[in-house]
Amino acid sequence: MNLLVTGGLGFIGSNFIRLWLSRHPDCRLVNLDNLTYAANPDSLKDVQSNPNYRFVKGDICDDKIVQQLMPSTDFVVHFAAESHVDRSINDPYLFVKTNVLGTYILLKSASKNQIKRFHHVSTDEVFGSIGTESKNQFSESTPYDPSSPYSASKAASDHFVRSFGKTFGLPITITNCSNNYGPYQHPEKFIPRMITNLIDGHKIPVYGQGLNLRDWLYVEDHCLAIETVLLKGKVGETYCVGGLKGGTRNIDLVKQVLSIFGLDDSWIEYVADRPAHDNYSVDWSKIKTELGWEPKFTLESGLKATVDWYRSNETWWRLAKKEAEEFYTKLKALSV
Ligand code: NAD
Ligand code: TYD
Repeated sequence: MNLLVTGGLGFIGSNFIRLWLSRHPDCRLVNLDNLTYAANPDSLKDVQSNPNYRFVKGDICDDKIVQQLMPSTDFVVHFAAESHVDRSINDPYLFVKTNVLGTYILLKSASKNQIKRFHHVSTDEVFGSIGTESKNQFSESTPYDPSSPYSASKAASDHFVRSFGKTFGLPITITNCSNNYGPYQHPEKFIPRMITNLIDGHKIPVYGQGLNLRDWLYVEDHCLAIETVLLKGKVGETYCVGGLKGGTRNIDLVKQVLSIFGLDDSWIEYVADRPAHDNYSVDWSKIKTELGWEPKFTLESGLKATVDWYRSNETWWRLAKKEAEEFYTKLKALSV
């Protein structure tokens, strides 16, 4: 089987490629990534010499490159996206281009080449907000109601993927997953930002009162969910994917991270809230019942593994951390 993975030098894509190549040594895999600020080639240093792995530097919006790669592809696993909500608020254009137009270019070529499966990696953020009750959850039947330019662009891409399934018979599947965390995540995102701040002796910036809910899933569990859908999922279907604990308040997550470091609440700094700040939690009973997937990592075990990884891999995150904090400083200056 030949896989075309897009965005494989980002957080989830790189974890997926490592996992897939180790579990499917008979498969060939091409990684198409245009190396945005969010990519880090070091994330796949250990697989570079694998003869079944090939990296192609290129943009998913580039028709020509996509047309060259698609004829030898059986499965597309589409991760490539602009993925950061705060950046989408600051400058939505790239989100429309990459997430909507890029997905369309891939779909068009996949359809023309009659590939066996187009798997689209999407987010629970397309559903909007569950309100403040953690017992409320999104499921596959929740209507779309995106709040940020990021989630709006992902919602649009989901609609295009489904439309290519219905109109052109492209064999598609979609996963809408909750917040991921784990090794190789860019330090602009909340969990690695907290960990790297504490390693550097800085406080954790908490938006608003820290009462927003996120449903956290360890990245390896997400990669296994995608593998499960690729191998056992029903064409045309969507599967919601989430963590064991459901909606967790940011402040409770912060306290859990602080306790791993043996630090108290004085390391919290409350800062201005994000506009249109949503709450998320996911009901993943469909993928469990129909395909037998469930998460293996608890939030406790996943957070500990993640803290250990960032402590041991400072060279991987140091430059990205500097750039991320420069971005946040600029954002703060713009909002004053
Ligand atoms: P990321 O930002 O870490 O990585 C994105 C990757 O895509 C980078 O390597 C980047 O260089 C590449 N890319 C961006 N634009 C491209 C383009 N035009 N052409 C080719 N490559 C391009 O993202 P992530 O956190 O790994 O997320 C991957 C996917 O999973 C995204 O589609 C995201 O919406 C989805 N998702 C993420 C989460 C999460 O918590 N991180 C949760 C659910 C779904
Ligand atoms: P983030 O990692 O940006 O993911 P997303 O917004 O896509 O879910 O943020 C996760 C949560 O953490 C979100 O509720 C915003 C909050 N947050 C903070 O409180 N402080 C921070 O410095 C960041 C980056 C996020």
